[in-house]
Amino acid sequence: MRRTFNEMEGLNAIIIINSHDQMLVAIRNGSPLVIGFGKGENFLASDASALLPHTKTVHFMEDNEMAVVAKDRVTISHVKTGKPIGVSKQQLIWKASEAEKGRYPHFMLKEIYEQPDVVTGIASRIGEVELLASKIRLAHGTYFVGCGTASYAALAGTYLFSKIANRHVNFAIGSEFGYHLNFLNKKSLVIAISQSGETMDILESVKKAKERGATICALVNVVGSSLYRLADVQLPIGAGPEKGVASTKAFIGMLAHMTLLAYACSGNVKEGKRVLSLAVKSMKAVLSDQSVDHIIELSKKLKAKEHICVIGRGLSYPTALETALKIKEISYIHAEGLAAGELKHGPLALVEKGTICIAFLPNDETYGANLAGAMEMKARGGFIIGISHKPHGVFDFFIPVLDAREATIIPNIVAGQLLAYYLSTLKGLDPDKPRNLAKSVTVK
Ligand code: M6R
Repeated sequence: MRRTFNEMEGLNAIIIINSHDQMLVAIRNGSPLVIGFGKGENFLASDASALLPHTKTVHFMEDNEMAVVAKDRVTISHVKTGKPIGVSKQQLIWKASEAEKGRYPHFMLKEIYEQPDVVTGIASRIGEVELLASKIRLAHGTYFVGCGTASYAALAGTYLFSKIANRHVNFAIGSEFGYHLNFLNKKSLVIAISQSGETMDILESVKKAKERGATICALVNVVGSSLYRLADVQLPIGAGPEKGVASTKAFIGMLAHMTLLAYACSGNVKEGKRVLSLAVKSMKAVLSDQSVDHIIELSKKLKAKEHICVIGRGLSYPTALETALKIKEISYIHAEGLAAGELKHGPLALVEKGTICIAFLPNDETYGANLAGAMEMKARGGFIIGISHKPHGVFDFFIPVLDAREATIIPNIVAGQLLAYYLSTLKGLDPDKPRNLAKSVTVK
């Protein structure tokens, strides 16, 4: 196996069963593998949460480790040299029950309803946030990097830091960051944001940033993941295991951290906690039975549509991008998130009678201009769904979301998640397993 693996190219995680001797041989290069230790049984998995029903004692394999796993022993050696490597056991902090659906039909719905508790938990752990805030204050350039949904948390971070901390931070998509990081140096701080901590585009670009001497911080949900181990500073998101392919509670956890970090940088982390408590209250209102029924009613109206446009300005721009991504990945309806100001620069040409437009209109400095965007679409026949703290005559359908000041993005996102979830289930799809997608994107 060693000879064969050493001739292979590309990123691999390989497990071979030796049924004769009752053992497994596993090697990793790039793709994740975790060994689980039981009593008289041992396990291998690509994701630690899969081990939870069996064991919490694990070893996260590093690249070029080769493990021979029998029921009563595990030995690890280096695949290139054959030299033995010590097993480094650690305990998963999650409970097995956290990785079960419980009374919910889907993991995604369970994870959506867990979000108020996730934010409450984060608001009670401000020590680590303040530590990272002190590093941001000292850094000569901070870069938030993420992929997919995590990239929208990174983008939201730039607005939150400008608004709350009067501080410039940079944002990059993980798959692009590697192409423009030549300016990084020893004083740069890269904050890599990821639920799984195994996203290849993030790992690759973060390794390049590390080679240039930048300090790497991982804002990551899976403790022990590749990104977690690679980073110089770790800030666990603390959202618990996320099983649905569509990221929900990890994203809300990222946003809560971004909000607290911005407040901590401004020297007023207590205010950040207060704002997050408003977000929790507002999320609970969005998750109330009455509000959910209202969103189901909207989903019924939209489920047969082919296109949905989602607009917002300021913090509602990443909100629009995330809502559009959630809708397309689990309901397969083409949805496009746009900065509302960009409408007149092209997309307005698409609007005709009946075009669906979701407009995020929170109680902030973007309200008037955002409303103007909604009106432009309405004037051309658009069907306007307003997600806002107050109704307006331009809305054809109104989803109320209580104002939570700088953290209103959090409950607004929850409204978008619920809409995406019900669009998916009303179409008879499985939101936990969207076609063509994987929970951890471990390939380029
Ligand atoms: O594990 P990560 O947070 O690094 O994953 C990043 C993206 O692959 C992920 O957010 C993806 O976009 C989700 N399917 C979105 O729901």
